[in-house]
Amino acid sequence: MTSQMEIPINQAADIIVSARKVVVFTGAGVSTESGIPDFRSPGGIWTKYQPILFQDFMSSEEMRRESWRRGKETYHLFADVEPNPAHRAVVELERLGKLDCVITQNIDNLHQKAGSSPDLVIELHGTAMYVLCMECGKRWPRAEIQKWLEEGVEIPYCDECGGIMKSATVSFGQAMPEKETMEAQLRSQRAEVFIVVGSSLVVYPAAHMPMVAKQSGAKLIIINLAETSFDMYADVLIRGKAGDVMQRLVERVKTKVGTKR
Ligand code: APR
Repeated sequence: MTSQMEIPINQAADIIVSARKVVVFTGAGVSTESGIPDFRSPGGIWTKYQPILFQDFMSSEEMRRESWRRGKETYHLFADVEPNPAHRAVVELERLGKLDCVITQNIDNLHQKAGSSPDLVIELHGTAMYVLCMECGKRWPRAEIQKWLEEGVEIPYCDECGGIMKSATVSFGQAMPEKETMEAQLRSQRAEVFIVVGSSLVVYPAAHMPMVAKQSGAKLIIINLAETSFDMYADVLIRGKAGDVMQRLVERVKTKVGTKR
């Protein structure tokens, strides 16, 4: 932790202490310290793989084969990872009665694994924990489908209706989950404080949320290693590692709340 972060962390803590509705908005940068690469940093997932568009996945058997090949290969990246101090700091904010909700772009279930109440975690881009039949809606735990893949199935099809099966994540070109998107929009509008942690804020409509909050009167705090195009709108900008900064921030909030008792 560098000393020049002390001041913005203190400013952010003051903002949080005097608020009730704090929304935390997370991206892949909150999970890199758990060992999951993000998408756009050097070495990130999109520097290795070309994203497979939803319409290509649905229309081409070859694209489904490639997608499931990647899924089989990367499964253990997600399955065996643990939450890190950034996820745990968000749980602390909930326990302090400060957290309104977590809006996450992540599909790794690490907020829930860290102890965040599932009903307070809005997964804008779905989850990698399940697989769905795109025809009949049947649902399997991803672990079960990994067994199919390891037994030699290259492209799984629904054992009920023969339909195309797909991870319960939202691919480029796929419709956003309506309920989650509406809820995230509403919570962003009502937020008193909106904290962005570990996101490049380049994928819409998710990246709209910080501005919805800001335009509705919220204080905007951005905690990120790299610059984002929203940095100029931040009330507090902290260029640092999510785990380190979030842990220090929540400790500072606890100290200030403690003295306020
Ligand atoms: N601490 C703080 N920031 C970090 C850390 C860290 N330990 N590690 C990475 N970052 C920052 C990076 O500098 C980068 O700006 O987190 C950001 C991650 O940005 P992306 O890789 O673009 O991830 P994200 O913003 O979540 O992408 C949004 O894009 O591909 C889609 O659906 C995918 O949900 C994803 C969406």
